[in-house]
Amino acid sequence: MKYLVTGGAGFIGSNFVHYLLDNYKDCQVINLDKLTYAGNLDNLKDIENDPRYSFVKGDIADPELVNKIFKDGIDVAVNFAAETHVDRSIGDPADFITTDVFGTYVLLEAARVYGLKKFIQISTDEVYGTIEIGKSSVETDQLLPRNPYSASKSGADRLAYSYFATYEVPVCVTRASNNYGFYQYPEKLVPLFVTNLLEEKPVPIYGDGKNIRDWLHVMDHCSGVDCVINNGINGEVYNIGGGNERENIEVVNIIFDQLKKPDSLKTYVKDRMGHDRRYSLCSDKTMALGWQPSHKFEECIRETIDWYVNNKWWWEKIKSGEYLEYYKKQYVDREIAE
Ligand code: NAD
Ligand code: TYD
Repeated sequence: MKYLVTGGAGFIGSNFVHYLLDNYKDCQVINLDKLTYAGNLDNLKDIENDPRYSFVKGDIADPELVNKIFKDGIDVAVNFAAETHVDRSIGDPADFITTDVFGTYVLLEAARVYGLKKFIQISTDEVYGTIEIGKSSVETDQLLPRNPYSASKSGADRLAYSYFATYEVPVCVTRASNNYGFYQYPEKLVPLFVTNLLEEKPVPIYGDGKNIRDWLHVMDHCSGVDCVINNGINGEVYNIGGGNERENIEVVNIIFDQLKKPDSLKTYVKDRMGHDRRYSLCSDKTMALGWQPSHKFEECIRETIDWYVNNKWWWEKIKSGEYLEYYKKQYVDREIAE
């Protein structure tokens, strides 16, 4: 089976490349990645010489390049490539529209012209918007994205569906919850807080720290996507949730406990604009295909924290240059929460 993985140098994409190579002896994997600030070939160092793997540096929004790859024949395309950070989308949405929406269109168009067995559009629970306590999102629920990131992902999600409904491209859409695991760029909650604490820096908790996210181990996300590739019905959407809803402060407390750091390093800062209070997924439909998450949150979040402790070589070099500029803009002089 020949897979095109876009965004394969990012957090989830690189874990998925590892997943494929570990699970399918005879697969071929092409990784198409633009290497934005979030793309990092260090994530793939251990497999870069695997004869089954090849890397193409390029943009999913470049039709010439994308058409060339599809023309050579692809069985399965999995589109992870995206601008992914909500805070950056609030500061500057343009790249989110170009990559997440237009880039997805370019991939779908190539799939329509050259054909393939399955196109997986990686979407997110954020497309449902904020969910009140007591409810969980099912795949047929209305989409109510509330920030430029989730709105651009919703656009791509429905555009992918339209290529099934209109042109019969064999599309499935997956909507996963917040991932945690190895190789996550340290702008997101878990790696940001762990690496700040390892540098004896305070951590910026937004608002009252009681927003709720459902935490999914990245390898459970990978096995969920694989299950949808093999068993998903074309045109359908599949939720992939971890079943681990936690207030942010609960996750932060685990990090503090694991690293044995004092509470004085907790700072409550001005909230994210339009901050969704809660996400919650019902994943029964994906489970009915045979998928089960297998990573226990309490254990695996601690294993993840330890990975950042033991792999300073990976994140120390990221926390320089562009990262420091972003950090300064985002956090330095940010007001303290009332
Ligand atoms: P990431 O930011 O770590 O990685 C994104 C990757 O895409 C990077 O390697 C980057 O270089 C690449 N990329 C960006 N623009 C590109 C372009 N125009 N052409 C080619 N490559 C480009 O993101 P992630 O956390 O690994 O997320 C991967 C996918 O999963 C995204 O589509 C995201 O919306 C979705 N998702 C993420 C989460 C999460 O918790 N991280 C949850 C649900 C869904
Ligand atoms: P994040 O990792 O950015 O993922 P998402 O916004 O896609 O859910 O944030 C997870 C939660 O942590 C979210 O409720 C926002 C909060 N958060 C903070 O409190 N401080 C921070 O510095 C960041 C990056 C996130």
